[in-house]
Amino acid sequence: MTTFTDRLGVELPVVQAGMGGGISGHELAAAVSEAGGLGTIGIVAPEALREEIEAARRLTAKPIAVNLLLPFARRAHWEAAAKADVVVTFWGRPRRRTPNIWFHQCGSVEEALGARGAGADAVIAQGVEAGGHVRGTRPALELLTRVRGAVGPDYPVLSAGGVVDSADVRARLEAGAEAAVCGTRFLMSEESGAHPAYKDRLLEGDETILTELFGIGWPAPHRVLPNAATERWLGAHSRGPAWLRAFHRGTAPLFARLPIGLQSRLADAQNAGRPLFGPAAATASAPASLVDAGPLYAGECVARVHDVRPAGDLARELSAGTP
Ligand SMILES: Cc1cc2nc3c(=O)[nH]c(=O)nc-3n(C[C@H](O)[C@H](O)[C@H](O)COP(=O)(O)O)c2cc1C
Repeated sequence: MTTFTDRLGVELPVVQAGMGGGISGHELAAAVSEAGGLGTIGIVAPEALREEIEAARRLTAKPIAVNLLLPFARRAHWEAAAKADVVVTFWGRPRRRTPNIWFHQCGSVEEALGARGAGADAVIAQGVEAGGHVRGTRPALELLTRVRGAVGPDYPVLSAGGVVDSADVRARLEAGAEAAVCGTRFLMSEESGAHPAYKDRLLEGDETILTELFGIGWPAPHRVLPNAATERWLGAHSRGPAWLRAFHRGTAPLFARLPIGLQSRLADAQNAGRPLFGPAAATASAPASLVDAGPLYAGECVARVHDVRPAGDLARELSAGTP
C-alpha cells in the first residue's frame, strides 16, 4: 500500500509549518526536507518567494512546500508557489488554485469538510494550543479525532499544535494523523529566521497568551509570549481592548491590501507604547525593538522546549520510533 509520505515523496511523517514574514525561509525548509521531512517556506512578497524556492532547490533535491495565507495571497504569489511541490494554505475560504499537491490548515470539522469539498489533497487540523495565528478552538488531539471521524479513514489528515518530541508525533499518528506539523519546535532551530533576542525569549518562555493585540491588517486570534506590548495593553482582557479590536476590524480592508514589504517596514517603526500593532514578527533583519513591540508567536509547547537545535536533527528526532 502506498502511504501518504510515499505519495509526497518524503521519508518522515514530520512537516515543518510555514511561518511567514521570513521566519521559515529556505535554510529552514531545506534543512527539514533534506533530513527527510517536509520543509515549508512561509509567505513573503512574491518575488522574494520565488527566490526562496530557488535557494531551497539549490540546497536540496527533495520536495519543498510553500505556505500562502489566503487573505494576503495575490496572483503573483500563486504563480511563484507553482514552483514548489506542495502548497499549504491557511485562513479564509479554501479554493483550489494550484495544480500541485494542496493542503489546507483548518480549525474545525466544518472547515475540514469545506476544504475537502474544494478539492484539497489533505487537511491540517490545528489545535487551540498552536503558536502563531490560531484557527482551532479545541485541543489538537480532540480536533484530530473529530476530523478523522468526519472525513473517513481514507482522506489524509495532519495534526498541528503542541508537537515537540517523538512521543507527541507517535500519539498523533496513533490517533489517525498521517503526519505531525510542528511550528514552535522549528521556530526554535538554528535555521529559523527569528531574531536572536526572540529565540532567547522563547528559551525563557513558559506561558503564552491567545490575543488579538497584533491585529492591524489581520484581525484574528494569535498565540504569543508576553512582552512589553502585551503587558502595557492587555490588562485583564487577554484578547485586547474592545476599542482596539474594533479599530483592527474597521481598518483591515485597507491595511491587508498593503504590500507585504511595506507592512514589514511599518512594523519596524512599532513601539510598545503606541497601540498600532501589526502581525510582522521580529526576524533577524528587523530592529531588536520589535521583540517588545511586535508579536512573539509561540505555541503552548514553548514551555517544553529548552534548546535551539539544527532543524535536520530535530526532524530526525521527532520521527524516532515511527513506522
Ligand atoms: C512563529 C509562527 C509563525 C506562524 N506563521 C504561520 C503562517 O505564516 N502560516 C500558517 O499557515 N501558519 C503559521 N503558523 C501556525 C502553524 O502553521 C501551526 O499551526 C502551529 O505552529 C502549530 O503549533 P505549534 O506551534 O504548537 O507547533 C505559525 C506558527 C508560529 C509559531
